[in-house]
Amino acid sequence: MTKNIIEKAKKILLGNRKRGYTLPTNNKLYPAQWNWDSGFIALGYSHFNFKYALDEIDTLLRGQWRDGMVPHILFHDLNTNYYPNHSVWNCGNKIKSSGITQPPVLAIILKKILHKNEIKKKEKIKIKTIVKKIKKYHEWLIKYRDPTNSGLVSILHPWESGYDNSPLWDQPLSKVKIEKNLKYKRGDNKLVNPDFRPLDLDYDRYVTIKNNLRKNKYDPKKLYETSMFNVVDVGFNSILLKANKDLLQLLKKFNLEHKKIHKYVIKSENRIEKLYDKKRKSFINYDLKNKKKITVPSITNYFILFADLKNKSINKDIIQNLKKHNTKEKFFFSSIKPNFNKFEEKRYWRGPVWVNCNWIIYQGLKDKDKIFAQIVKDKTIDLVKENGFHEYYNTNTGEAYGAKNFSWTASLFLDLMLEKNRSN
Ligand code: GLC
Repeated sequence: MTKNIIEKAKKILLGNRKRGYTLPTNNKLYPAQWNWDSGFIALGYSHFNFKYALDEIDTLLRGQWRDGMVPHILFHDLNTNYYPNHSVWNCGNKIKSSGITQPPVLAIILKKILHKNEIKKKEKIKIKTIVKKIKKYHEWLIKYRDPTNSGLVSILHPWESGYDNSPLWDQPLSKVKIEKNLKYKRGDNKLVNPDFRPLDLDYDRYVTIKNNLRKNKYDPKKLYETSMFNVVDVGFNSILLKANKDLLQLLKKFNLEHKKIHKYVIKSENRIEKLYDKKRKSFINYDLKNKKKITVPSITNYFILFADLKNKSINKDIIQNLKKHNTKEKFFFSSIKPNFNKFEEKRYWRGPVWVNCNWIIYQGLKDKDKIFAQIVKDKTIDLVKENGFHEYYNTNTGEAYGAKNFSWTASLFLDLMLEKNRSN
């Protein structure tokens, strides 16, 4: 039984694989390469095909812009009905791409993969080049998304968070004036029940923000100053902090310069605590554009555990709260706390359980609360075993929604099943 399901997960990845990269799913919903999906996917491959794992990362980095940015989507296939497609974005390096990024998980994944696999001499050269590219990407984030060198970076579009229609963005999005005479055609809600997808109103705002970025020719300096959306997100910054910590080790391993990244790690570690709300005992987001706190109880606020803050008392408080995030539900973690008034059981990032969130939190818990970490792991495995390799799930029933044969669900399931007391 266990062997069968592991084979099934591998088959999903191989079935979604194209030349050098893997689609998020086997249907037409996402016909391109996505940034953080590829990171998670590479981790899955690392358990049975190291070459495919490296290829996945390598291909993504071939889409890196000259300034260092790694796009959130690479359009290897130009003939799809996807919206927004390459012509709508109208940018890219040799590979057509979107003009924004996504949570920078690559360094974290690469470090894990290298820890697990023996490296041949030939691969070492390839990996060193990958590490240099990731460094350039992180330096881009620091320079252009934190121009005041505060220690925290901004996201300039909800899509950059990876949790597109989370209630986290409701307040900043409500301030976005929708462009007059917007003309575009969504494809997603024809492929998946519209009740499980973002609203048209959300899309109008996403497209308006995107059009403004395009108008500014994706000049990173201008975008930061003019974007209609500028938020300091706990989840994104926690991932970056963890990624910078891991990058630092990779740079040392390959004898590469690491002073700047080291300094930034120290700065971020201190600064991110400013997002801690002592009264609530939780981390909160900050809407920089409108100078307002965002207090939505999103599971992504717990990504801070992944960042491995040295502050033990904060970690303890956070874990206590995390244990109260889901009390009555059959499966956790719901993307939004169920008693929050904007929680929606079926709608994408507004309530359902996502395996990548569980995986991130599990990693953060492993060395802080072993017993709870094990529960999270077991529950996540059960959820997938009982309901299949889908995109997201109902927290109360486990009912599966969105895309079937979802690559990161398969990948992270494999990682949970096959990890062997890895400490990193
Ligand atoms: C959606 C998700 C995003 C993911 C992409 C491809 O846009 O919100 O996180 O990367 O689909 O799976």
